[in-house]
Amino acid sequence: MNDILPGEVETWQFLEEQARRIFGLYGFCEIRVPVVEKTELFQRSIGETTDIVEKEMYTFRDKSDNSLTLRPEGTAPVIRAFIQNKLHTRDPIAKLFYMGPMFRYERPQKGRYRQFHQIGAEVIGVEDPKIDAQILTMLTHYFANVGIADVELQINSLGCPECRPGYRQALTGFLEKRLDALCDDCRRRYRTNPLRVVDCKVPGCKEATGGAPSVLDHLCGSCRGHFAGVQEHLREVGTAFTINERMVRGLDYYTKTTFEMVTSSLGSQNAVAAGGRYDGLIKDLGGPPLPGIGFAMGVERLVLMKGDTRIEPSSPELFLAALGEEATRYTFGLMSRLQRRGLHVEMDYEGKSLKAQLRRADKLMAKRVLIIGEEELARRQGQLRTMETSTQESIPLDNIEDFLMKDAALNR
Ligand code: HAM
Repeated sequence: MNDILPGEVETWQFLEEQARRIFGLYGFCEIRVPVVEKTELFQRSIGETTDIVEKEMYTFRDKSDNSLTLRPEGTAPVIRAFIQNKLHTRDPIAKLFYMGPMFRYERPQKGRYRQFHQIGAEVIGVEDPKIDAQILTMLTHYFANVGIADVELQINSLGCPECRPGYRQALTGFLEKRLDALCDDCRRRYRTNPLRVVDCKVPGCKEATGGAPSVLDHLCGSCRGHFAGVQEHLREVGTAFTINERMVRGLDYYTKTTFEMVTSSLGSQNAVAAGGRYDGLIKDLGGPPLPGIGFAMGVERLVLMKGDTRIEPSSPELFLAALGEEATRYTFGLMSRLQRRGLHVEMDYEGKSLKAQLRRADKLMAKRVLIIGEEELARRQGQLRTMETSTQESIPLDNIEDFLMKDAALNR
């Protein structure tokens, strides 16, 4: 779990602001849901036999003996909120986005943390593959906009309750003969969740499952048509993608389209964003039988990928340097009035020497410094210094606020 300090937080703010702006263009509204939910919500949605539910959740009992869990992801809480607040009665289509911390007890490494942050989006109520293409186009648009280029969009289809059992059977038959070559986790998965074996990253498993049957060869007519539609619409709008038939997501609620934005620059944590369709989830959680699709991006991974292109904290437009008690009182009032009018102003609070105050202004990279001593105050004149050129001019203190507001606007 990390602190996000000044100097890095500006990149976070940039990534969040761009998400608000771009998702807004596609009609998404923000939703904020609690960080804690009933444990059962995640067991029922993500799936009892997934890594997340089996070993990664921060679960505890509260004083009333309820089992609660720090959310390991955002989709289930958003769907819970959608159902509980009957959002479908407001609008048959809901486009929601969210951002915030998620918690998984994983082994930490570069790009993998126990408290991490997601920016996610969900569309509820549309089954047409055009919405899959829209979501993927929005994701691609976002990456291009924030300047992250080294990513590839990979898509797959995991079928539906009609065709998945057939695939599962074909896969189990294939794996049965190769159990000895699989890692311990995969031998367990073979019984509980065999699809996960196909995207195990352990080299031995990769090799053993090289010729495994493809999920795409087992799709029913409806899923095949839907997947073809997604690809066609992506081509129509020029959103580049590749098909990865071995991509199986680590959450059980997916049906049909699944996808990941992968990068080669983050080592083994190669997914910067991931998601898919979950057409059965809303009904399974007690809501109306509506389809859904969405994704989440890992913000820490986005920040790592943006690298050293650090966004500087904004520097003050004006620094007020006061000398003497009377001038300090005057300056303190002036600073507050200017801040209320929207100017970024700083001053020294502790009565330091002029030299020390100018040093501070320089460190903060203030554009201008207004120097006011007792003498200046008596003469109703201040010295306005331009830091870049080290030049100074005398200016009257009458109407000083208006003057400084205009001066700052000219310097922006
Ligand atoms: P997920 O694949 O579990 O999907 O997570 C989405 C993204 O969150 C990952 O691609 C990764 O960038 C980031 N992430 C996950 N775990 C960690 C971690 N321990 N440390 C840092 N980053 C991490 C979901 O969570 C689904 N709810 C996505 C979704 C939304 N599907 C449909 N709608």
